[in-house]
Amino acid sequence: MLKIFKKHDLAPYLTMKVGAKAEYFAVLKNKADFFEALDFAKKKSLPIFILGGGSNTVIVKNIKALVLKNKIEGKKIKKENSREIYLEVMSGESWMRLVNYSVSQGFYGLENLASIYGTVGAAPIQNIGAYGAEFSQVFDSLIAYDLKTGREKIFSAKECELGYRDSIFKRKAKGKYFIYSLVLKLKKKAKLNLSYGAIGEEMKKRGIKNPEPKDVAQVVHQIRSSKLPNPAVLPNSGSFFKNPEIKNSVFLNLQKTYPEIPFFTSAKKGMIKIPAGWLIEKAGFKGKVFGPVGMYEWQALILVNYGGAKAWDIVKMIERVKKEVKKRFAIDLEAEVNII
Ligand code: EPU
Repeated sequence: MLKIFKKHDLAPYLTMKVGAKAEYFAVLKNKADFFEALDFAKKKSLPIFILGGGSNTVIVKNIKALVLKNKIEGKKIKKENSREIYLEVMSGESWMRLVNYSVSQGFYGLENLASIYGTVGAAPIQNIGAYGAEFSQVFDSLIAYDLKTGREKIFSAKECELGYRDSIFKRKAKGKYFIYSLVLKLKKKAKLNLSYGAIGEEMKKRGIKNPEPKDVAQVVHQIRSSKLPNPAVLPNSGSFFKNPEIKNSVFLNLQKTYPEIPFFTSAKKGMIKIPAGWLIEKAGFKGKVFGPVGMYEWQALILVNYGGAKAWDIVKMIERVKKEVKKRFAIDLEAEVNII
């Protein structure tokens, strides 16, 4: 029997640790729990809201919904051949634990995505990416359940329409499915991706000539810990904004005023990606604290709750940053974090 709580505080389940109440709340441990929850929501005519690791969600108002914390865990090798492994992973697994398992087995593909908070089920929603790699490169397919009908649907990688921090689940399929499990395609032998400068430099420093996936994961872990605050110590949601993509012509103009402006190529034709952290730093917010919140001193892209922040403090901070960046650069920042 699924235990359902009424008027439940969500702060403990969110890495930003800002409170809001769920009308109803339950923790899912298996598929049967999910279907029980679905029945309950139907009877109460309430929508369902799925919460994974809570590392990319900020809830700024009480929600009239049945909130389900996904703790459906487990993984198994679905099939393999001499070159590849198809790993099936339940959506409530911790992404970090999955990466640790994968590199401990010597599988290739997840090492650059080490030390990212959150659950496996959240990875396709925002197509997590870091240090030269993206979830889309290892993704095969997923099984989801329709939150209205309970019907199962298999999504191929193509059907998920993955882009930079984007997928169908952030657009037309938003809030419509419970992602139940994923299949990842990992490699038994492959070239490691050392394209992100700091990874190669750190390998050299450590004297590692023939790195293995676990070496890359360790180095990524070290780079991340030097820039990104641990949410258990300083509550935060990782990158708060997306890196904006602007037209090449707009970029060339900006470059005239700021020759040092860092940039990345974008997958979108004719567009250039600018690090939002740089824009926020230039707008004067790096390390600046406003009451209980502020932008982190080592990476201005991270909005930190220094203690006791309320939803309102977060909302005001977002507005402050967006307004100043718009004023200085005429660029609209878009939140990467899901704000409810
Ligand atoms: N920069 C600044 N000031 C800052 C932060 C960054 O000038 O305060 C400049 C850096 O000097 C550098 C550039 O911005 O030239 C890029 O910085 P960084 O390598 O730290 O990456 P990012 O673009 O800020 C993205 C992801 C991160 C991911 C890193 C590493 C987004 C929104 N964020 O950040 O993802 O770890 O690249 O690949 O795309 C996350 O999504 O939660 C996350 C941490």
